[in-house]
Parts: sequence; C-alpha cells; structure tokens
Amino acid sequence: MNPILRRLQGAAVGQAGALFRIASHPIGGGGGLRRAALGPIAAALGDKDDLSGSVIMITGASSGIGEAAARRVALAGATVLLVARSADRLERIAAEIDAAGPGTAEARPCDLSDLEAIDALCDGVLADHPAVDVLVNNAGRSIRRSVDNSGDRFHDFQRTMQLNYFAAIRLILRLLPAMREQRHGQVVNVSSAGVQIRTPRFSGYIASKAALEAFSDAVQAEALADGVRFTTISMPLVRTPMITPTKQYEGIPALTPEEAGSLVSEAIVGRPRRVAPPFAHIFSTVDTISPEAMDALRSRVYRMFPE
Ligand SMILES: NC(=O)c1ccc[n+]([C@@H]2O[C@H](COP(=O)([O-])OP(=O)(O)OC[C@H]3O[C@@H](n4cnc5c(N)ncnc54)[C@H](OP(=O)(O)O)[C@@H]3O)[C@@H](O)[C@H]2O)c1
Repeated sequence: MNPILRRLQGAAVGQAGALFRIASHPIGGGGGLRRAALGPIAAALGDKDDLSGSVIMITGASSGIGEAAARRVALAGATVLLVARSADRLERIAAEIDAAGPGTAEARPCDLSDLEAIDALCDGVLADHPAVDVLVNNAGRSIRRSVDNSGDRFHDFQRTMQLNYFAAIRLILRLLPAMREQRHGQVVNVSSAGVQIRTPRFSGYIASKAALEAFSDAVQAEALADGVRFTTISMPLVRTPMITPTKQYEGIPALTPEEAGSLVSEAIVGRPRRVAPPFAHIFSTVDTISPEAMDALRSRVYRMFPE
C-alpha cells in the first residue's frame, strides 16, 4: 500500500485523527454559537431547535445522510416527507419516526430520475400541504472513474446530471412558487467538498454537484426578497453505503451519518448560505491563487488512489 495512504488511514486514530476531524468538520452551520454558549446564555438564545410546524422534504431519506437528517428534524418536531425509491424502507423509517415523536413522517416514494414522477410527487404533496417549507436535495449518485476509463461511458455523465442536477432543479421549480408565496422557505443542497477540491476521478459527479451550486447561487438573488434561503453543504467524507465500494476509503477518517444528519438539521435551524469544512476552503483559496499548485497536488492524489 502507498505509504501516504497508509499514514492517512492511520490518521483515523490518536491526536492526528483529532486534528484531521477538526479540519474536516464543516463550519458555518449556525448551531455553533449555541453549542459553545454557557447555560444561561444558551437559554437566552432560546430553543431554536424547535422545527414544529415545518414541513421538510428530504430526498434520499431511505439511507445514510438523508435517513439520519430525517430522524433528526423529526426529533425537533418537524413533519418530514421521506423521498426515495425504496418504499418499504421509507415506510419502516416513517413508522419509527412517528413512534419516537414529537415530529411525524410521511413516506413519499419516488424515482427522481423520472421527471414526470417528480411532478406527480409535488402535486401530491402540495395537495396535502400548503407548501414545503424546506426542501433538502440529498438523493445522489456518485461515480468514481477516470476519463481514461470513461470513453464508452457517456451514460455516467448523464446519470449523475439526471439525479444530482435535473431532479433537484425540477423539485425546486415545482416547490419554490409556494415558498415565495408564503414568503418563507429554504432549499438545502447536500453537495460535496469535492466541488471545491476538484477531486480527480470524480469529474462527472462533482460537475453535476457544481451545476446545482451555480444554479442555486443565481436563483438566490431572485428569491431573496421573498424570504427564501439557498444553503449549500459541502459535505466531507461520510461513512455511508455510497462510499462502501471504494476500498481506498476504508479506515480514512469520515463523519458518521448521524453527524452529517445533524449538520443538515443545523443548517435548517441556522439558515446559513454555505457550510463547508475548513480544508475545502483552504484548497479552493489555494486554487484561486495558484491553480498550478493545486494541479500538482491533485495529480499526486490521482496517482496515490488507483481506480
Ligand atoms: N457519503 C459521502 O461521503 C458523501 C460526501 C459528500 C456528499 N455526499 C452526498 O450526500 C448525499 C447522500 O448520500 P449518502 O452518502 O447518504 O448515500 P446513500 O446512503 O447511498 O443514500 C443515497 C440515497 O439516494 C437515494 N436515491 C438514489 N437514487 C435515487 C433515485 N433515482 N430516486 C430517488 N432516490 C434515490 C437512495 O435511495 P433509494 O435507493 O431507496 O432510491 C438513498 O436514500 C448524496 O447527494 C451524496 O452525493 C455524500
């Protein structure tokens, strides 16, 4: 095994692991001040974790980050709409959320790669609720493949765009008007720190996430006066089924799904524009100053982590 990779995997434990976790824990979520505050100050800041009365749609809620986020916002009192393809899993998670309270859950199965199915989903939801207060675009497809091995795999680029970009904007186009009408709402996009880092072998995946970030930044200006907030979470590595096929990630420090789900919930409470880990900010700043320096680093990473 590559010695640098072995050292990185060793960083999962001990003091080096603690430092690594600080650098990779996203900041800007909005819950930090309250978490850091002493008892009386925290009390004065109020119980802002109360999401009762909010209708929150979370896509990709049958697994990983989406499932953890759904459980977390329901604990804060929200009505959570669970969207994914696996109806049986959604029904089970909804039943568990209802039993735990105080929030409630509705299973809303949908294949988000089908635009007409998304329209039907939104019609059904808006027939039952005046608006979705928060849309969390979390369902995603990740593909790790170099362009060398992508010559005959154009569909990889189409599939990532279909789910990570087109599905998300179809949902936004259908749900935004009711948010604007009630003059309050939020779209949370679960993006990737890889967008800032421009991680090699993930070109199709990070391009689809970057497209959603750019779309959201442009639309934020249009919806600003109507009280709608767009939030981008640049998620670092999270130990979910999505990363299981990548053997190189075994042993490398990663957030738990619960930690990532809490970040989503804090972003709903705090309504920041961006949440990102410090290392991603550092890499993107270096890239702005010297893309050539980052090219050299990325090239090293490319050689270090084989296909
Ligand atoms: N894990 C990481 O390290 C990491 C890092 C950065 C960003 N992210 C992002 O975080 C998000 C959640 O990923 P995760 O790690 O929690 O992965 P995961 O556990 O594999 O969950 C993916 C979710 O997407 C749903 N999904 C996939 N295709 C779908 C479709 N066609 N229609 C509807 N739902 C679909 C899946 O449900 P069904 O199969 O039931 O449809 C599942 O609920 C993704 O957008 C990912 O890009 C993850």
